Amino acid sequence: MQINGQTKIVGIIGDPVKHSRSPQMHNAAFNHLKLNLVYVPFHVKPESLGEAIKGMKALDMVGLNVTVPHKIEVMKYLDEISPAAGIIGAVNTIYVKDNRLIGDNTDGYGFVRALVEDEGITIAGKTIVVLGSGGSARAIGHALLQERIRMLIFCNRTISKANEMARSFETQTQGAFVASMGITDNRAEIIRADILINATSVGMKQNDPLLIDPAWIRKGQVVCDIIYSPPQTLLLQKAKKRGAKTINGLGMLVHQGALSFEIWTGCPAPVEIMRKAILDAD
Ligand code: ATR
Repeated sequence: MQINGQTKIVGIIGDPVKHSRSPQMHNAAFNHLKLNLVYVPFHVKPESLGEAIKGMKALDMVGLNVTVPHKIEVMKYLDEISPAAGIIGAVNTIYVKDNRLIGDNTDGYGFVRALVEDEGITIAGKTIVVLGSGGSARAIGHALLQERIRMLIFCNRTISKANEMARSFETQTQGAFVASMGITDNRAEIIRADILINATSVGMKQNDPLLIDPAWIRKGQVVCDIIYSPPQTLLLQKAKKRGAKTINGLGMLVHQGALSFEIWTGCPAPVEIMRKAILDAD
């Protein structure tokens, strides 16, 4: 990487940020396409968020990724919010256009692209169960509803959040049936689902429990986890034993990054280079 007088900056803000693999992923892509950009991590504390965002224009930055805990709070410092980020209520990508800071969200579309492009899965017409009703579930739900799915069911430990999620999508279901329920009473829905998605953080830690009984999973189903570390959560291990097709969160991570890359550069992202950079970063 050759940094010179014309190099521009892209980065990621988070607290913490040191575990992020986005710098390796994006710098590999910039190098591959010989773009004069560099991607750096910025550890920004919540009390400095406004100042950090203001600095983007002053430093003539190309853009930023935004991660925990800033994805919601950052919205108040931006000049414009994309329709997707507005519906999701969170921003993971900021870009600058005509000296205006615009917030977008590529998480859900990244998930869909990973399923469609990496795995060749057809989403239209499918019945999909999402475990969780936090920010990740909302981004994924929104993206799935753009794909002419048949049915979307949010299952959550705190049922009021699942209900609220389903209600918030009421006017934008694109013809799909959207429902909500608790996480323990969904046996029939899971058996019937074409695709099951874990959009909670459960499975990240070694002794995390299973949120569903794996006996409900059947051959021919697609079971996805947004978690990529460990690469095979207990849910995916059990689902694989039951004969389901399993997909971890690596593809979502790569494709949300690829979509951000495309927003910033206008170039098609070198997806395989980005995926390899993440795997090599282990
Ligand atoms: P994110 O933005 O990554 O989605 P979040 O908004 O904090 O994170 O959401 C976390 C999700 O994981 C929620 O759906 C949460 O359920 P609650 O709404 O009931 O808190 C779910 N979750 C986290 N830990 C859980 C656990 N031990 N059992 C069941 N669900 C859990």
